[in-house]
Amino acid sequence: MTTSLTESVAALQITPLKSEFGAHIHNIDLKNADDATLATVVEAFRLHGAILLRNQSMEPDDLMRFISAFGEPELHTQKNYCLPGYPHIFKLSNMLDENGKPLGAHNDGVGWHTDYSYKKEPVMCTMLYAVTVPDEGGETLLADQVAAYEDLPEAKKAQLDPLKIHHSYVHFIENREFNSYQISDEIRDANPDVIHPMIRVHPADGRKALWISTGTVKHIIGMEDDQAMKLVDELVEYVTQPKYVYSHKWQQGDVLMWDNRCTLHTGSLYDDKKYNRMAHRLWVKGEAPISVGD
Ligand SMILES: [Fe+2]
Repeated sequence: MTTSLTESVAALQITPLKSEFGAHIHNIDLKNADDATLATVVEAFRLHGAILLRNQSMEPDDLMRFISAFGEPELHTQKNYCLPGYPHIFKLSNMLDENGKPLGAHNDGVGWHTDYSYKKEPVMCTMLYAVTVPDEGGETLLADQVAAYEDLPEAKKAQLDPLKIHHSYVHFIENREFNSYQISDEIRDANPDVIHPMIRVHPADGRKALWISTGTVKHIIGMEDDQAMKLVDELVEYVTQPKYVYSHKWQQGDVLMWDNRCTLHTGSLYDDKKYNRMAHRLWVKGEAPISVGD
């Protein structure tokens, strides 16, 4: 008798990251896991919105095999910090090479956002693999956008359901607090502005998420900008209340992944004079967001 994926997930040792959200999956060595085990991990991810696996030891080829179990890996917008020979693996770091050149993007991802929201087809998920971690600070915070949406009063849901947001990568880079990027003509041409729903419907099961973000949001369609930004600030504050947020304290060898269709995330600062950090980021291609009523 074959075992279904659901039964396989039930057999995993899982503890929640936070009440109803996320799964810490224990006792799996991703480097040596067979394809059936990886398929079970993918299913657990689909069910829980985020997964954590600790004590991993993964070379770049292992990371590529693992991420490919989730779908087609996505390339990165900025190309200069990818691992040589691995254009899908992006380095996040404050470290310098022997010539004093940065080894990776520093303070990338500080500020609540969802990855690639400025693209027509934003990335489905983000994976971070911790190579070197600071002793303190540098946490990654994930906010459960489905729980936040579900808790809204019905009248507020009805007000937000039809809203559309204008996202812009150029706007994001030009207004970014921690900016180490330049906008080349090539980058500008490759990243035209897009319009996405504020309430995003999950393609797997129809769950609705309050798909708000900061940084790339330039306008809300049909609203005056000061009124729109006030609403964005109010919603980001609402969805990032502690009751919706899991704060991840990194250990070396951690693999943390989240579904960008139903979460918001941010990095946090650390003492970059005192500590080194190196993490590898990988993305999986996603689909155009589904609006309520589509
Ligand atoms: Fe991010």
